[in-house]
Amino acid sequence: MSKYTDFGTPAKISDNQVTLEIDGTQITVPEGTSIMHAAMVGGVTVPKLCATDSLDPYGSCRLCLVEIEGRRGFPASCTTPVAEGIKVKTQTPKLADIRKGVMELYISDHPLDCLTCATNGDCELQDMAGAVGLREVRYGYDGENHLKSEKDTSNPYFQFDPSKCIVCSRCVRACEEVQGTFALTIQGRGFESKVASGTENFLESECVSCGACVQACPTATLIEKSVVQHGVPEHSVTTTCAYCGVGCSFDAEMKGEQVVRMVPSKHGGANHGHSCVKGRFAWGYATHQDRITTPMIRKSIHDAWTEVSWDEAINYAASEITRIQAKYGKESVGGITSSRCTNEEVYVTQKLIRAVLGTNNVDTCARVCHSPTGYGLKQTLGESAGTQTFDSVMHSDVIFVMGANPTDGHPVFGSQMKRRLREGAKLIVADPRQIDLVSSPHVKADYHLKLRPGTNVALIAAMSHVIVTEGLVNEAFVKERCDFDSFEAWRDFASKQENSPEALSETLGVPAEDLRAAARLYATGGNAAIYYGLGVTEHSQGSTTVMGIANLAMATANVGREGVGVNPLRGQNNVQGSCDMGSMPHEYPGYRHVSDDATRALFETAWGRPLSKEPGLRIPNMLDQAISGNFKALYCVGEDIVQSDPNTQHVTHGLESMECVIVQDLFLNETAMYAHVFFPGASFLEKSGTFTNAERRISPVRRVMTPKNGFEDWEVTAKLASALGYPMHYSHASDILDEIAALTPTFKGVSFKKLDELGSVQWPCDDANPTGTPTMHIDEFVRGKGKFFITEYVPTTEKVNAKYPLILTTGRILSQYNVGAQTRRTDNVAWHPEDVIEIHPHDAEDRGINDGDWVGITSRAGETVLHAKITERVQPGVVYTTFHHPESGANVITTDNSDWATNCPEFKVTAVQLTKVSQLSEWQREYNDFSKEQLGFVQHPKNEVNV
Ligand code: SF4
Ligand code: SF4
Ligand code: SF4
Ligand code: FES
Repeated sequence: MSKYTDFGTPAKISDNQVTLEIDGTQITVPEGTSIMHAAMVGGVTVPKLCATDSLDPYGSCRLCLVEIEGRRGFPASCTTPVAEGIKVKTQTPKLADIRKGVMELYISDHPLDCLTCATNGDCELQDMAGAVGLREVRYGYDGENHLKSEKDTSNPYFQFDPSKCIVCSRCVRACEEVQGTFALTIQGRGFESKVASGTENFLESECVSCGACVQACPTATLIEKSVVQHGVPEHSVTTTCAYCGVGCSFDAEMKGEQVVRMVPSKHGGANHGHSCVKGRFAWGYATHQDRITTPMIRKSIHDAWTEVSWDEAINYAASEITRIQAKYGKESVGGITSSRCTNEEVYVTQKLIRAVLGTNNVDTCARVCHSPTGYGLKQTLGESAGTQTFDSVMHSDVIFVMGANPTDGHPVFGSQMKRRLREGAKLIVADPRQIDLVSSPHVKADYHLKLRPGTNVALIAAMSHVIVTEGLVNEAFVKERCDFDSFEAWRDFASKQENSPEALSETLGVPAEDLRAAARLYATGGNAAIYYGLGVTEHSQGSTTVMGIANLAMATANVGREGVGVNPLRGQNNVQGSCDMGSMPHEYPGYRHVSDDATRALFETAWGRPLSKEPGLRIPNMLDQAISGNFKALYCVGEDIVQSDPNTQHVTHGLESMECVIVQDLFLNETAMYAHVFFPGASFLEKSGTFTNAERRISPVRRVMTPKNGFEDWEVTAKLASALGYPMHYSHASDILDEIAALTPTFKGVSFKKLDELGSVQWPCDDANPTGTPTMHIDEFVRGKGKFFITEYVPTTEKVNAKYPLILTTGRILSQYNVGAQTRRTDNVAWHPEDVIEIHPHDAEDRGINDGDWVGITSRAGETVLHAKITERVQPGVVYTTFHHPESGANVITTDNSDWATNCPEFKVTAVQLTKVSQLSEWQREYNDFSKEQLGFVQHPKNEVNV
């Protein structure tokens, strides 16, 4: 293992302590520590340029030389380890001379334009020139130099100015060690040496624009364009990324109310100073001209919007809800929250629906992504959440990735995982498509189980069969920790011949020997951890697969310590949190059923209203009930069901059938086109609260600028509650978190004060675990004994046939996020301006389709048209697309099929046919007309139509 356990924190290298003297001070550090690090510990600063705390030492700049009594020469302190009793001097006349000479050489080939340089005052080269006391440069600019080298400005977010490069290699090492992309090299030797990306420019290279090299660069060679534009920031506020479920912590570096740059925080528990292109660079949507900042109302969706005051909008919405409930009954209304909302926003929204409107008709977007995780893990392990920290992967010997694409969907964790794989961990990937992890620089999957979409349960059954029949079960663990009756039933089921790899090989499209070898590796390869994503949950048997995964982990004792576990990679930033907060129709915060009398009494007392004990409607049921005339009003906060939910036609029909749709969002999204009231939302930069990431880590969201719409989102919900006769007396999001903590045992110890002190905390956080719980189920499962479930494979009803011979599966891409509402309004469109359909060359050839052709994709639900991308990343018979652009209509073709337990849509399996076409589909043409009409109804501002 590397001596860095994570990005930036030197590991405890040894238990043996070593005492040395540095500049007359006695310092004790672990054996193996570098002299430079020991000096830092003792408060002594050694000049340096090529070293940085986030990278392995390199020893190239020769600025950090020291003298060691009794040793010859001048060793580099960054690469020389401490030794017992040595006496080190960091400042002597000889060292001063050497350092001046080194700096003189650097500066003689460096443009001396410090006063006009964008990093003036924030440049390590400048600092070092000062630190070594450089006063003159004897070697002039007359000889050969690099001062006229051309700038590369191709990347939308940062520029590369080789004239300022000191070839310290920090960028190259950051790209390798931290990001794991290996996009840069140092080309040439001596004077000729330079940083190269292997292509014409950065944009065309393998670079994924994570910005690690920019952060590592000690000069203005690699620099954010926003810093060039705005200058060096003057204050910073630590907050949490509003994109994916990794939950990276950032320092928002500001000039007044202007974000100058987002710098990933080295103290971030999930990211340790690293980030991806979205979090670091794609924040411009917060000030995009498309933002709507004034409330609007209208009578009909075919009317123009009227801008109104907040009071008018709130009162209108409240009067409509009251009218509708009086006319159609209490259950005729409901709400939808979003994983993009903070915990506090989700909490007040579900409270409004349950306590004020008197119904449990509240649901969340987790319905369409990770609801099977909630169900499956609760049943088996007893808690609806992942078991580990991200850092746990650094202790894994075998990593099993199923139906997830971490380098695109969870990029910072993907980098950490790749780091562990480069150190030697084994990798099993189960995915119909060749995701990057299968083969990328210095990472190669030991087994890529290229299963057919829809056969996850069969794959788990085959692996279980091998483990059970080859004696690979850890019986001692099972006997001690699990419900033995359920284990025996599962063992008998798994050992049936019909579940053998040989019997299931054809169904899966995976050789039986690969299934056997992967199962043996998982069971016997040491610490084995499972990471899974929407490729597991978004199926008709999503919950079954989750339970099957938990069975595997329990049977092999791969749960309850570091390096192992069952880890759902949550898609959006706050999927875990939104579920924790009681956003599902059957559960209060903390996953307590609404029918439980004691829990209901607790909330009735706290909220002062009677509460219903009947579970409410899920999103699909709300839409069905709307179409049948029983559901009439919806309050939709931060969610865009028209774009993100399956069978778009059904969703829009449902919305059209309602009398009052209230949308609260940053932009006039697709759902808002069917709305009667629009409440402008606040971006994550404009509000306070918390997000909970995929490892149950609650991190603070801190307001860095004034909300452009005037209010934080929880304030809008509270105003609506007041207008409905139920004042909510919160003065800050922290008051809401205090209420959550008071009513939810697993959050009992969480508060803004604790988050300020600790940075973040993983729930459960209570009296027994006051600083949180990094690893769950250590001594016993949350449910007591772990329970095995029989997971019988039932093929989906979505079958291929002569009419629909291909299977469409969907996923996401690094540069875009979910429905794209945010990332489409940033320069990230440079990497993904449209969704395309990936087709295997054989399938394309059969249909006469060439790369770039328009292709009609027809399913049993509908038709859409996308450009073709011919690639062997997909297997024959399978096609793939993303869903980041609304006009792509990816969900026009997905069906109503869903998970048997949770109604999570079967997004990953749709039978389709592809044909070469010359125009957009009928749906797309109608969509274009409708969206143009709707955008015309808004007086301000001018929305773009991305068609
Ligand atoms: S670009 Fe920056 S980090 Fe990279 S070698 Fe040049 S000065 Fe060093
Ligand atoms: S931005 Fe990231 S991926 Fe691109 S070169 Fe820099 S470190 Fe490598
Ligand atoms: S999108 Fe995810 S990985 Fe990227 S910076 Fe944000 S939280 Fe981190
Ligand atoms: S900092 Fe040690 S050689 Fe550069």
